[in-house]
Amino acid sequence: MQNLNTYILAIESSCDDTSCAVLSNEYVLSNVTANQKIHEQYGGVVPELASRDHQKNIVPVVDAALKKANISLKDLNAVAITRGPGLMGSLLVGLSFAKSLSLALNIPLIEVNHMQGHILAHFIKEVNEQKTHNEPEQPSFPFLCLTVSGGHTQLVKVCDYLSFKVLGETIDDAVGEAFDKAAKILGLPYPGGPLIDKLAKEGDKTKFSFAQTKVPGYDYSFSGIKTSFLYFIQNNTQKNPNFVTENLADICASYQHHLIQVLLKNVKVVLKETGIKQLAIAGGVSANSSLRVQVKELEGELNIKTFIPKFEYCTDNAAMIGITAYYKFLKKDFSDLSITPMARMHL
Ligand code: KG4
Ligand code: ZN
Repeated sequence: MQNLNTYILAIESSCDDTSCAVLSNEYVLSNVTANQKIHEQYGGVVPELASRDHQKNIVPVVDAALKKANISLKDLNAVAITRGPGLMGSLLVGLSFAKSLSLALNIPLIEVNHMQGHILAHFIKEVNEQKTHNEPEQPSFPFLCLTVSGGHTQLVKVCDYLSFKVLGETIDDAVGEAFDKAAKILGLPYPGGPLIDKLAKEGDKTKFSFAQTKVPGYDYSFSGIKTSFLYFIQNNTQKNPNFVTENLADICASYQHHLIQVLLKNVKVVLKETGIKQLAIAGGVSANSSLRVQVKELEGELNIKTFIPKFEYCTDNAAMIGITAYYKFLKKDFSDLSITPMARMHL
């Protein structure tokens, strides 16, 4: 492995996962995440409970990441932190902790935009893959990235590691919310996306259909689809109180199929109109098994290359914050200790 000398400790705490990673250049040495189970019963993330859990988790998670990487604090060259977008209280816990580390160790603080992190997760390298000469191909610039998470849905032209152009995005809810809200209506716990994915595997995706939305340009809208799903369940349950239990897998398969068709429609148009030949997906919803298969199938259909992230780097993780910070470190793009978290933050 070349030049193993930049060690970055990265922290991600923008929503309900407390995560810490240690990277050596682009190579991830550890990536430890504490998930918060407390939100399951509420059908969504409760911000105040999330920040309290981050406070409990942050020291043990950082400690575990350092131990796993076999790196001590004095070896670190920089500390990286998600500045936004995300929940204010959650971001504040991570940022305060990262500032203290930067000050105590006298090393630079590097702020990272969470959405850039999701995209750059495609550039995380693994030590074992390097040793076995088994490193997967990475996208080259420019490529198109469909970033799909619980808070965002964006179509981004990625021009360089730190240069992005948003071509389209949701004008209301994110696709992850459309998964999670539907799951809540079906009586499934939060986060519902993975459960809908699992149930959909046994169902008939052509059985039910849902509202089509018309949005100008390359933008998306999911709020009408969510509402149409609610009315669909209410109407059918009035006719048959057992409608959901009798049709659960078919409902999940049909709804998931609909969301994926909506996502991919704009992707295909953008690829054709811009001539971009590489497509990546990123964010929590890119863990969806059907989306992953359908994106791969576009390779033959559109004569393009596609890039699907490893499962562990789809949902929130600190390794993606570390890799983004590494490219900022190379440019000496450091942050001042006076920075504050940003609940909203543009790419
Ligand atoms: O990126 P992420 O971990 O957090 C945000 O930045 O929001 O994304 C979380 C979202 C949730 O809405 C969750 O339901 C969804 O990703 N998700 C999935 C799957 N795994 C996670 N959605 C559909 N299918 C999945 N397998
Ligand atoms: Zn995320």
